[in-house]
Amino acid sequence: MTSERFFGLIPAAGAGERMASAKPKQYLELNGRPMLYHSVKALLADARIDTVFVVLAPADHEFKEHPWGEFGERIAPLYCGGATRHDSVLNGLVAASSTVEPDDWVLVHDAARPCLGRHELQRLIDTLAADDVGGILGVPVADTLKRADAASRIQATEAREHLWQAQTPQMFRHGLLLEALGRSARLTDEAGAVEALGMKPRLVQGSAANLKVTYTEDLQLAQTILTSRGTHT
Ligand code: CTP
Ligand code: MG
Repeated sequence: MTSERFFGLIPAAGAGERMASAKPKQYLELNGRPMLYHSVKALLADARIDTVFVVLAPADHEFKEHPWGEFGERIAPLYCGGATRHDSVLNGLVAASSTVEPDDWVLVHDAARPCLGRHELQRLIDTLAADDVGGILGVPVADTLKRADAASRIQATEAREHLWQAQTPQMFRHGLLLEALGRSARLTDEAGAVEALGMKPRLVQGSAANLKVTYTEDLQLAQTILTSRGTHT
């Protein structure tokens, strides 16, 4: 069960409904490039990643309007997105089966996380490459947690010890991911599906900079982070 091959898989078939914008958020511009470009580039920054599969909506017309040539053969669009993120990832895993072996590693990464840093990605791969299960990037919860009642009044203060916020990439072997997502109900992440098989994915320290762009206000923050790294073109 030891593979030296690593692939990326980016679900990018969402509609971005929580963001009031004219087009899906993966195509919104950050520093002159679509958000998806930054997410692809962040994954390919690690030379160990062989190819990144990008899962697009079957009706996507925008992808081919942007230049991807700098990534050569390391980027492969798959027009097989589904109704949910879970469906898009599962369809992508199935479509990638002709290239990817069951024990190859797949790093599933949201198109909506364009600020993934090179060091966190490196740490994820270094930590998990010899792991039996796989794991994810995450950050320990720093804020005090309050449980609210229906009127938004504090019902209780929750212990935050040992609580982490899950991020992506989520790194598991292709065969395990296929099995886990094929069986699971619609969980929001790959780790949840693997947990449902009774396994314990590892948590690897990420960074708050790897935010998920969900609301319009997140765009400015993402842009600031990318600019601070000098990645604008
Ligand atoms: N995604 C996908 N297929 C779907 C839904 C989501 O590939 N049917 C992808 C999104 O493109 C995104 C990632 O999954 O890269 C994380 O999802 P999310 O942040 O929820 O994006 P959207 O679903 O597009 O946004 P919203 O939930 O606000 O509609
Ligand atoms: Mg969504």
